[in-house]
Amino acid sequence: MPTAIVYYSKHHGNTKKLLDAIAEKEEVTLIDAAIQPTADLSLYERIGFASGIYFGSFARQVLAFAEANLPEGKDVFYLYTHGAPGGSFLKAIREIVKRKGCNELGAYHCRGFDTFGPFKLVGGIAKGHPTEEEIKGAVTFYQELQRRNKQ
Ligand SMILES: Cc1cc2nc3c(=O)[nH]c(=O)nc-3n(C[C@H](O)[C@H](O)[C@H](O)COP(=O)(O)O)c2cc1C
Repeated sequence: MPTAIVYYSKHHGNTKKLLDAIAEKEEVTLIDAAIQPTADLSLYERIGFASGIYFGSFARQVLAFAEANLPEGKDVFYLYTHGAPGGSFLKAIREIVKRKGCNELGAYHCRGFDTFGPFKLVGGIAKGHPTEEEIKGAVTFYQELQRRNKQ
């Protein structure tokens, strides 16, 4: 199933580590929303949105991309990394996806090394994340989507 993942990963490239591991094993097109703010997604049946979490949400570049380019009725999934142990970070991207009548397939997330603001003073939080295990988890998540689709 032709799949594109639209991403923003600028803090430490944490989210990109997940995507590179997926792209190494599976055929996916990666689109950096910071470099390519528009693209024709009509030929892709499945679209992933991936981002580091910035101020409690997906990066504005990914949100703007989804708003401008996501066709109606696509299958959509999410991947994200965050510095804090937890939180509900999907609200804004889900609102766009649902407004466009898309079908949500699921989400994968894990922590990502974070040296933003005061955290820099203490050497950062979530050091060492994403771990090898967490990166493998993203690949398994993606392969599970593929498997479900074939059934
Ligand atoms: C400007 C900025 C704002 C951030 N805001 C949050 C936040 O609200 N919640 C959180 O858990 N992590 C936050 N983080 C940490 C990042 O989400 C985390 O480091 C993530 O893994 C970065 O992904 P990336 O390296 O792919 O860009 C923030 C980081 C930066 C630089």
